[in-house]
Amino acid sequence: MGKLLVTGGAGFIGSNFVRHILENTEHSVTVLDKLTYAGNRANLDGLDPRRCELVAGDITDAELVDSLVRDSDAVVHFAAESHNDNSLRDPWPFVHTNLIGTYTLVEAVRHHGTRFHHVSTDEVFGDLELDDPAKFTEETPYNPSSPYSSTKAGSDLLVRAWVRSFGVAGTLSNCSNNYGPYQHVEKFIPRQITNVLSGSKPKLYGAGHNVRDWIHADDHSAAVLRVLEAGEIGRTYLIGADGEADNLTVLRTILRLMGRPEDEFDHVTDRAGHDLRYAIDGERTRQELGWEPQFTDFESGLRNTIEWYTEHRDWWEPVKEATEAKYREAGQ
Ligand code: NAD
Ligand code: DAU
Repeated sequence: MGKLLVTGGAGFIGSNFVRHILENTEHSVTVLDKLTYAGNRANLDGLDPRRCELVAGDITDAELVDSLVRDSDAVVHFAAESHNDNSLRDPWPFVHTNLIGTYTLVEAVRHHGTRFHHVSTDEVFGDLELDDPAKFTEETPYNPSSPYSSTKAGSDLLVRAWVRSFGVAGTLSNCSNNYGPYQHVEKFIPRQITNVLSGSKPKLYGAGHNVRDWIHADDHSAAVLRVLEAGEIGRTYLIGADGEADNLTVLRTILRLMGRPEDEFDHVTDRAGHDLRYAIDGERTRQELGWEPQFTDFESGLRNTIEWYTEHRDWWEPVKEATEAKYREAGQ
């Protein structure tokens, strides 16, 4: 039984991970989260307060980070500015949190000799052509496109350097696009579901040919836990569930599952520098860690997610209008 420090544990994937830990292990968790627009105390509602504590604070606060790391057996680092569209409007919070924040954490784990796991994204590899049979592997060179993905790539490199130069006991994972409950309504799938639930039309960037590789957040959590338990120090693990689908197909599926005509959406201004396709080859992670995704039927995962947003209007309605106002300003 150990004490985990989970940064960003009040966000989408972090809170799913905390729930996964409390349900599947004996560990206790301290969440360190700044509670930005993307973090929400309510994401941790109902969890046993004897095993889960929330500290509202910033990962760039070296003193606070040092004191929390000193009291922890391992750190799992999810905290980040995570949304590409925001990074195109204002890159600074991405540089600050993703780079300085990760630097602050690796310095603290170096001083205390604490096990560290860094959660990252497949976007560090850039994008693939639509007709390219290739997928990302551990050997794919880094080639990030956006301010978001370039700061995540930089944070990965900091962790690797601290492992090699200072002997930090670190691992990394790069995962594909997550979906599931508690995802902010700025992101593609929840934005479209909540648009339909609000009586407005879904918004598709460009022609919708861009491909994303979808994985349920709970499968991502289970994989991160396996890396923490059995991952080799210094290694990078790719996490994916063979969930490639183009945006137009995903949007039409959402509309159909919600009982709406499949062409009832607006085409809006495309994202600048929009990555074409992501695809993870997660075979090595599966073989070595014995992890397998459980949500293998994307359509039924989407149906559960639609149900969750339908039943949790009180969770997303307060932030919906402000989120859409930002998109309207950008013509999206
Ligand atoms: P999110 O935006 O939903 O949550 C991020 C959390 O970090 C929020 O709770 C926020 O309050 C917190 N945070 C932000 N800045 C902070 C700071 N300076 N100090 C402390 N806390 C801070 O993001 P998410 O989608 O849950 O992503 C979590 C992690 O997983 C990120 O590192 C992201 O790069 C990575 N990731 C995401 C996906 C995806 O599809 N969403 C896929 C692969 C990897
Ligand atoms: O690949 C992993 C990454 O997935 C994570 O690192 C990021 O944190 C996460 O946000 C996600 O990035 P994307 O940019 O792929 O996700 P997003 O939900 O913003 O968009 C998914 C696709 O849908 C993308 O091709 C853009 C498109 N899109 C998005 C929105 C918000 C639309 O067509 N319409 C929209 O309204």
